[in-house]
Amino acid sequence: MLISIFSDLKKQLSSALKHKKHPFRYGTLATTGVDGSPHLRTVVLRGFDQEMLTLTIYTDSRSDKIKELSQDPRAEFLFYDSSQFLQLRIKVNLIHDAPSKEIYNQIPEPSKKDYTSIFVPGEEIKAPDAVTYNYDQPNFTELIFEAYELEYLKLKRPNHLRVKFLLNDDWEGSFIAP
Ligand SMILES: Cc1cc2nc3c(=O)[nH]c(=O)nc-3n(C[C@H](O)[C@H](O)[C@H](O)COP(=O)(O)O)c2cc1C
Repeated sequence: MLISIFSDLKKQLSSALKHKKHPFRYGTLATTGVDGSPHLRTVVLRGFDQEMLTLTIYTDSRSDKIKELSQDPRAEFLFYDSSQFLQLRIKVNLIHDAPSKEIYNQIPEPSKKDYTSIFVPGEEIKAPDAVTYNYDQPNFTELIFEAYELEYLKLKRPNHLRVKFLLNDDWEGSFIAP
């Protein structure tokens, strides 16, 4: 049963890359703020490697998360599928933070705006339409995180199902109290 849960959760994360409506397409990424406080935000899952257990996101290299991760590379992803009452928590370490012209060039033109604002993310602006863009100077960066702990929780009757998988245990998995 543990093996099938592990392979199912990997399958579901991979499926989120192909299906835009999959609930795991959007996750919450938690980092530690520079002052030590928790910091959460929604991100799009752009890559998932079933063998390496890595998760990829794209972001603006000037955003707060970059400063936070350079200070503490640990982070956590949260995914929730309300149709299955299924929660995944994935503890990760940042292993790659680099611009990629190749990926940036493949991004649809309207989405390039997300990485080319002349304003730094979080900077105060006069109005939403005050933002302008410099497409020649993208701040696009690819972040890749390596998982070291996965927790699967499915709420169901008569027994909830909660399982922890650890890299240090070769992802063998064990049931834990819900
Ligand atoms: C639906 C949705 C999807 C988002 N996807 C991303 C994303 O893939 N990458 C990203 O950096 N920010 C994404 N954001 C914006 C972040 O939630 C966040 O506001 C931004 O990255 C700044 O975060 P930071 O200041 O903590 O670095 C998304 C926001 C929403 C509402």
